[in-house]
Amino acid sequence: MSVQDENKLTKIKNSLESRVVTLPDGTSMPRIGQGTWYMGENPQMREREIKALQLGIELGMKLIDTAEMYGDGDSERLVGEAIKGRRDDVFLVSKVYPHHAGLDMIAKACENSLKRLGTDLLDLYLLHWRGRVSLAETIEGMEKLRKEGKIVRWGVSNFDSDDMKELWNTTNGKNCMINQVLYHLGSRGIEYDLLPWQREHHMPIMAYSPLAQGGSLRRQLLTDPTILEIAEKYAVQPLQIALAWTIRSNNCLAIPKAVQEEHVLANAEAAIIELTKEDLNRLDEVFPQPTRKMPLDIL
Ligand SMILES: NC(=O)c1ccc[n+]([C@@H]2O[C@H](COP(=O)([O-])OP(=O)(O)OC[C@H]3O[C@@H](n4cnc5c(N)ncnc54)[C@H](OP(=O)(O)O)[C@@H]3O)[C@@H](O)[C@H]2O)c1
Repeated sequence: MSVQDENKLTKIKNSLESRVVTLPDGTSMPRIGQGTWYMGENPQMREREIKALQLGIELGMKLIDTAEMYGDGDSERLVGEAIKGRRDDVFLVSKVYPHHAGLDMIAKACENSLKRLGTDLLDLYLLHWRGRVSLAETIEGMEKLRKEGKIVRWGVSNFDSDDMKELWNTTNGKNCMINQVLYHLGSRGIEYDLLPWQREHHMPIMAYSPLAQGGSLRRQLLTDPTILEIAEKYAVQPLQIALAWTIRSNNCLAIPKAVQEEHVLANAEAAIIELTKEDLNRLDEVFPQPTRKMPLDIL
């Protein structure tokens, strides 16, 4: 590795260490973590996927997000293999299906996830989306898991502002640590009321699909002249600008998923990019903030 490369790696690691979000319990987390949807499903990709996650951990993207749903447990198994021997370097997140989030099922679902992940503790357990089980029951289940030492903390995913308000008014609902929602430059609906509500209640957002799935959800992220110009200014790729935009403030961390080594490096490198007010204003012109309530974007 050349001196230049080493300097860059040090810069990436330092940026990830210093640009953090703080959870309501005081835990600090680098603003870029790693997603794992579709990982573990293709045996031929297995080695590459494991290496990608390990490289990400080495660079400092220590939060790994998975779910019992992904590949029917295969993603958790793959993550388990990737973190073997490095559990302490990782902040492990998994999600429970809504139909497993009642008191009769949640303990078993969590136990199964722990087994597949090869660990005895989740750092964060999320309700994947809202289903038929009452919030009160899911919260009770989460709190029980916390007391039993199976999870350190819990949160939710795909909750809109009304769901968050209801959660807040449910017993122990204020113990929720984060809400994982779709958020990228081409999907800014949450900025109307959800993001302000969460900021007011000191609860960060975890942005999923922060690259709009490599631009496939919003091709404009790869081709828009303003993004291209800003990317040129920083000598980076357009999607790195999109990722840097997502983590521009201290109440949002993003979990891009990447298997290709150059994507992992590019995503970690995005932590170095601090967009200026002028850059942000220019991006606002092309990708405007919402001016009215929008339905929550969900994948
Ligand atoms: N809670 C929920 O309901 C929910 C829903 C969706 C996603 N999620 C979580 O959020 C994670 C991220 O979202 P996502 O996987 O939907 O989409 P994403 O992270 O926005 O995009 C992933 C795609 O972008 C490509 N990519 C990654 N880095 C890149 C780069 N620097 N330049 C160009 N292309 C790049 C990847 O390619 P390669 O893999 O080939 O490198 C992959 O095809 C998921 O993996 C999952 O953990 C949660």
